[in-house]
Amino acid sequence: MIDRVLKTIDARRGQSLEELKGLLRIPSVSTKPEHAPDMARAAKLIADTLTKTGLKASVEPTGGGKGHPLVLARNDHKPGRPTVLFYGHYDVQPSEPLDLWTTPPFEPTVRDDGTGHQAVYARGSADDKGQVWCHVEAVRAWQEAGGLPVNLVMLIEGEEEIGSDHLEAWVRANADKLKADVAVISDTNQFARGVPAITYGLRGLVYCEVFVTAVSHDLHSGMFGGSVPNPANVLSQLIATLHAPDGRVNIEGFYDDVRPLDEAERSAWAKLLFDDEKAKRELKLKETFGEAGYSTLERRWARPTCDVNGLTSGYQGHGAKTIIPAKASAKISMRLVPDQDPVKVVEAFERAMRQRCPKNVTIEFARHGLAGPVIVERNSPAMRLAGEAVEAGFGKRPTLIREGGSIPVVALFKQTLGIDTLLVGFGLPDDRVHSPNEKFDLDALHNGTRTAAVLYEKLSRLPR
Ligand code: BES
Ligand code: MN
Ligand code: MN
Repeated sequence: MIDRVLKTIDARRGQSLEELKGLLRIPSVSTKPEHAPDMARAAKLIADTLTKTGLKASVEPTGGGKGHPLVLARNDHKPGRPTVLFYGHYDVQPSEPLDLWTTPPFEPTVRDDGTGHQAVYARGSADDKGQVWCHVEAVRAWQEAGGLPVNLVMLIEGEEEIGSDHLEAWVRANADKLKADVAVISDTNQFARGVPAITYGLRGLVYCEVFVTAVSHDLHSGMFGGSVPNPANVLSQLIATLHAPDGRVNIEGFYDDVRPLDEAERSAWAKLLFDDEKAKRELKLKETFGEAGYSTLERRWARPTCDVNGLTSGYQGHGAKTIIPAKASAKISMRLVPDQDPVKVVEAFERAMRQRCPKNVTIEFARHGLAGPVIVERNSPAMRLAGEAVEAGFGKRPTLIREGGSIPVVALFKQTLGIDTLLVGFGLPDDRVHSPNEKFDLDALHNGTRTAAVLYEKLSRLPR
């Protein structure tokens, strides 16, 4: 049966890409309220596509209609078969700055990526619409061949890029519909072209905003400067306290729960042939940077961070304007590793900032999203089957890696449903996710679709 399924996938290759382009044309930017109608359109397109393949699919509101909708779909479940829960996201990051895109972000275009490989360029092409499409297409091929060999539940949400805020309540309220033996997500990367990977660890995330205010309005800096506190100066001083000279994060208790890297992992990663010089060339970077005593991969995959993501105060226009700004604010995120607790970390951060802040200004905080760090079991039957699927799809056995990004639902599934997730991702490290000129490699699209198809066949043999 799998041969027939793979033949269908090969034959429909061009058609599948055209249909993916339809989804890529919808600007489903979750963080911008004005895109709410696009969110609904994208959800409907996916639900309709799955309905046409014979699944029962619906668009479900979240947050009592205040959140973005999610797509829920299932095939006919048969007793005795393993149940697989697929998760993906149809929301995308904002596409700005627009002038840096070679072709517009929501006009998907196929072209050479400069290394002789064809890719489809569009916001969301790799993260995550293209990877979701691998599974949609695999499901379609199985349905044409008489039906999937597993019980499948698909959950495709619209708030991943903004922290999956309304998903937690929805998953808790609908846990009965999501009961499964294992979850599958394709929203991570291969280690490199020709080096497919399965990811067994992700960092968590805490995203905060800090606001410092001093006076009611911007002041003439000649009349008032030197006689009132300057919120921009104060906020800069606070940010400067967040790191020690050796690159470590300077927040009381920050490292308390950090699980040290074990020697087996360190030596396995050292063998991965990650080339700092090549990374520097690709990023036009003068020197790598980070916590002393760790390699680049260790810093990215297994060490926590604290980084300013955005910084605003005072006059931002052309030329000079002499003012003492009334306010200053910073968006600051911390990447977390096992076994750090997001709530404990955000509280430690706010406490440290409050303590260090001079009393002649006001400091306030907002929290924009929390995600737990995860490590999944590496020696499970499901992992072994996933490895076989990647080998069938890409012609090479996958490397086991961790990644530095975050997918909030993975910790949520573990907590609420008690299941591990298979992170079988098809992106490439140079896909420029979240950046201008995001792309998804056409071989990754095709081999990813084949991998997904084989994975559903393999998982039908999952011991229960
Ligand atoms: N697909 C990424 C996560 C990812 C990126 C995994 C790179 C592995 C490698 C996901 O869409 C993402 O961007 N997540 C956000 C989560 C946040 C908004 C809670 C992230 O990591 O910044
Ligand atoms: Mn993603
Ligand atoms: Mn993303």
